[in-house]
Amino acid sequence: MARLAAQPLILAGQGWADYALLDSGDGRKCERYGPYRFIRPEGQALWRPRLAGWEADGAFIPGADEDGGGRWHFHRPVPAEGWPLGWQDLHFTAHCTPFRHLGFFPDMAPVWEWMEKMLAGQADAATLNLFAYTGVGSLVLSRFGPVTHVDASKKAVAQARANAALSGMGQRSIRWLIEDASKFVRREVRRGKRYAGIILDPPKFGRGPEGEVWRLEEHLAPLVADCRRLLDRESRFLFLTAYAVRMSSLALAGLLAEHCGDLPGAIEHGELALGEEGEGARMLPTAIFARWRNE
Ligand SMILES: C[S@@+](CC[C@H](N)C(=O)[O-])C[C@H]1O[C@@H](n2cnc3c(N)ncnc32)[C@H](O)[C@@H]1O
Repeated sequence: MARLAAQPLILAGQGWADYALLDSGDGRKCERYGPYRFIRPEGQALWRPRLAGWEADGAFIPGADEDGGGRWHFHRPVPAEGWPLGWQDLHFTAHCTPFRHLGFFPDMAPVWEWMEKMLAGQADAATLNLFAYTGVGSLVLSRFGPVTHVDASKKAVAQARANAALSGMGQRSIRWLIEDASKFVRREVRRGKRYAGIILDPPKFGRGPEGEVWRLEEHLAPLVADCRRLLDRESRFLFLTAYAVRMSSLALAGLLAEHCGDLPGAIEHGELALGEEGEGARMLPTAIFARWRNE
């Protein structure tokens, strides 16, 4: 029986050569992505900034509508086609997207490291990356065996393939699928497939390639139930995140306990955060997570 941890964990990313959270405060954050600095809205930065006079190459100014809208304003030229960044031996393209992010999520770095630990020593571990976006997680997983990368967005999957090529990993065994995550997993269940590890990073709301509606509150539980059917006692992990939702990590943990409780190992939960750089640094929360790990 997987043990359910009572206390939450904080998985805090500390930045690396190509990424830093420089400061945050007054509802905004200032970050460095390689040679460029950007200011973006950040609702959870309730405190005051530590540094005076943020200098940035660009800023995302939100529209009047809280949930979307807004646009980038550039103070200095930033390549519209993007620029290369690295993490460990991986390379990928960052760019200023209309959705206010930069084409990858730096707060996932501790998750990538954790998955590496969970798969250490394996060479043929089949893994599944759902809602996989531009695929840094898929490249990490591809070190340990074949990966199935599933995302609804043609553009995101094309960018993920380009990132694999940029990393010199174009020949790795990665299936790139433009599919609705729930539909794909249901099909895999019918085919009796098994995976060594599954990561899912669903948005609050999304659409599959054929307009299939994804609403986290409604569709997460059946998806997790189906994901469980793709795992067995030899599998290594399932990692689930959620962001921009009114939900506690306890809720995600309860869901995993319901479906993965019969497996060996442990179920843990908590928050992902980014640590600011420098003296007096604070931790900016970014998402909640729950995970099942085999021991
Ligand atoms: C925030 S991103 C995930 C980030 C990613 N895990 C990473 O670390 O780079 C959410 C992704 O879910 C995808 N998506 C939304 N609805 C979907 C659906 N029904 N099926 C599959 N993917 C979907 C979007 O295209 C988007 O790429």
